[in-house]
Amino acid sequence: MRIEGKEFRTIWYENNVVKIIDQTKLPHQFIIKDLKTVKDAINAIKIMEVRGAPLIGGTAAYGMALAIQENNDPDFIKKSSEELIESRPTAINLKWAVDRMMKKLVDINNDKILDEALKEAKEICDEDEKFCENIGVNGLKIIEEIYNKKKDTVNILTHCNAGWLATINWGTATSPIYHAHKKGIPVHVWVDETRPRNQGANLTSYELNEENIPNTIIADNTGGILMQRGEVDMCIVGTDRTLSNGDVCNKIGTYLKALAAHDNKVPFYVTLPSSTIDWDIKDSKNIPIEERNSEELSHVEGIDENNEIKKVLIYPSKSKAMNLAFDITPAKYVTGLITEKGISEASSESLKKLFNK
Ligand code: MRU
Repeated sequence: MRIEGKEFRTIWYENNVVKIIDQTKLPHQFIIKDLKTVKDAINAIKIMEVRGAPLIGGTAAYGMALAIQENNDPDFIKKSSEELIESRPTAINLKWAVDRMMKKLVDINNDKILDEALKEAKEICDEDEKFCENIGVNGLKIIEEIYNKKKDTVNILTHCNAGWLATINWGTATSPIYHAHKKGIPVHVWVDETRPRNQGANLTSYELNEENIPNTIIADNTGGILMQRGEVDMCIVGTDRTLSNGDVCNKIGTYLKALAAHDNKVPFYVTLPSSTIDWDIKDSKNIPIEERNSEELSHVEGIDENNEIKKVLIYPSKSKAMNLAFDITPAKYVTGLITEKGISEASSESLKKLFNK
């Protein structure tokens, strides 16, 4: 998608380095950063220079290629794969991508292994782009249906950033919105700010602005009253891990939005590529929920009058804070799962049928 009119993907390989857009500096500075080693890739995932389930999967895949480029030794490659998987615990795309790379590379002889690793990492990213595009085509039908009934702007609420910056391109939650906009359907997006890291305000609103899609940032607690007032036609969110029973793990606060949507009969859709489905864990209590540094809550970042990025403390200095990064929305609150293959009910029968499991 576009930044200042120029097309970008979120990650690519060029001149022996992996290029990423540093998301910790957005929306104030647009910086393309080089990842030269697997440690760089691990660090970029940990400190969230790259984030969003599909993009951390793509970064981990390229991280494996960087490990091979650096030191083509089986023990080093194995250790790197483990460190990549551990770099963030909740989004399953990370493990999925590393496992796919390891499976592909296991029988390849030495002089071909780097080329094959780079090819597979690109394939993982190209596939994600295609899947996200298909999610858009499938989700467009729902927006179109609402528009055909309403004959007026479709108001969509989203949480966190499940936009193109969280994927390779298109995004998951935003892809149906981009498709609707391209088709001339009037859409307006309520963007949850998404405390504590403000991915909604800093990333979703930013990328929608760059594509000229009307959007309004709201505090995370505002969605409920907007739904009561009939000002939300549907919610669309992404996910970091969805179980085969349809339970959805996503950015903290998603569950509360789903409860409000249920109470107000607002359809609540979750968008995901199949790489985000966890077919193994059966009980959502067993999903590892990331707990991040409490400084993400107690401090905020922005630009000062000299356009310099500054971080300031906003809490009492003696207060403790707790920062759980994800929550679980039970399947019963999910209207449908929009995937690259079509729309599924949030149930194991429906998901298994769609994916021939
Ligand atoms: O902590 P983040 O910013 O990586 O969390 C991202 C989300 O929760 C997204 O909604 C999810 O990864 C889906 S991205 C298409």
